[in-house]
Amino acid sequence: MLPRKISKMETLTSEIRETLIATAQHYLKNSYSPYSNYPVGAAVLAEDGLIYGGANIENSAHPSGLCAERVAINTAISEGNRKILAVAVVTRNAGSPCGACRQVMREFASLEMPVILVSVDGNFEEQFSLGELLPRSFGPDDLERE
Ligand code: THU
Repeated sequence: MLPRKISKMETLTSEIRETLIATAQHYLKNSYSPYSNYPVGAAVLAEDGLIYGGANIENSAHPSGLCAERVAINTAISEGNRKILAVAVVTRNAGSPCGACRQVMREFASLEMPVILVSVDGNFEEQFSLGELLPRSFGPDDLERE
């Protein structure tokens, strides 16, 4: 069951956390990653209270490939959201999001946003804030006019 609208959230409830992880696990199965053989599934909780998922989608022209996190975030944004409240990523080794994905998170999230990294077998889990993953970052505030 998807959560109802959540306007502000500092801590994740365990139910939403588990749903996020389950969604990322589900999307990992849809990964198209024949070149790296490194499937990634991601899920984001958006301000509309819905969870959006994504998988990495590779391409024979390698730079045309997409990361799972950005597929999920861009889907949420395309649906009208402007804030994401939590992210879960599932890979075989609970790998950490790439720099480009961290920067895209920075555009739409607070530095307190939780990023949950989970191994596909579910045996390993870590949680960081976006600010821990992307210290001293550049963001929308830097472009505000005087
Ligand atoms: N990948 C992601 O989907 N997210 C990341 O944050 C790191 C890398 C994908 C891109 C490529 O399809 C594969 O993992 C290996 O780099």
